[in-house]
Amino acid sequence: MKFTTLLFPAVVLGAACPYGTFKPEEPTDTRGVCPMLNALSNHGFLPRNGRNINENQTVNALNDALNLTPDFGRFLFTAGRLSNPKPNATTFNLNHLDRHDLFEHDGSLSRQDAHFGQWSRFNQTVWNWTLQYYTGDVLDVQMVANGRAQRHMRSNLTDPEYRLSEVGHEFSVAENAAILSIIGDKVTQTCPKKFVDFLFTNEQLPYSIGWKKSGLPISLQDLLRTYHDIEEATAFPPRPASDNSTEIFN
Ligand code: HEM
Ligand code: MG
Repeated sequence: MKFTTLLFPAVVLGAACPYGTFKPEEPTDTRGVCPMLNALSNHGFLPRNGRNINENQTVNALNDALNLTPDFGRFLFTAGRLSNPKPNATTFNLNHLDRHDLFEHDGSLSRQDAHFGQWSRFNQTVWNWTLQYYTGDVLDVQMVANGRAQRHMRSNLTDPEYRLSEVGHEFSVAENAAILSIIGDKVTQTCPKKFVDFLFTNEQLPYSIGWKKSGLPISLQDLLRTYHDIEEATAFPPRPASDNSTEIFN
């Protein structure tokens, strides 16, 4: 048999499937709170069983799938490692990230608060609330800021155990920044809504609807630029304009 014939199946498969093949999780696999890491396991960029993920695997997966710089990958891995309940662990499982109030926090975009029950997996009702604030086909800083503010406002009003630590706040803003700067475009800080909806709903990278990983490497500094812009754009709604005669404290 000729060498080229031997190679043929691999070439065809490679051409049909240039990216980690998507395979939904098996019941024995572990997944958790992070829609992106779940997707990376579903594609085989991270171990498909979602367990014993080490630093190299994380850095390579985030670089191969998303073009994150190795420094940024190492930084993110630290959060994974620290989530492992075993002291001095050098790996983590995806469900270690579910530890409530460590990095996981209330007011998630697509997960309900722990007070209401299962808090680590995708919840369509919660996600629909967020989608209502994504008012255009292309998400920008303001829409993302509004979607995030809405979730924390709603939790604050309805969850008697609602809380948000400083770290929880930072994660919340950073995750929203990641939507724009990692799934979307770090330069314009925008992202087609359909990519985000597809990723969250299917835990699958949205290749089939036209998504491509960033052509530019993405660093922690890139994320922080969007982080600060989201914080700037976050405001409680101003009071409706009123005629001065109705003001009491004037
Ligand atoms: C959510 C950890 C990588 C996007 C989360 C949460 C954790 C987490 C603990 C839960 C926070 C919550 O309560 O909502 C990690 C770790 C990572 C990582 C340890 C790397 C080792 C990424 C990357 C992205 C991403 C590369 C890129 C888009 C998100 C988003 C959410 C999230 C958008 C919010 C989900 C929601 O609010 O429903 N991640 N993450 N994460 N992560 Fe990751
Ligand atoms: Mg949460």
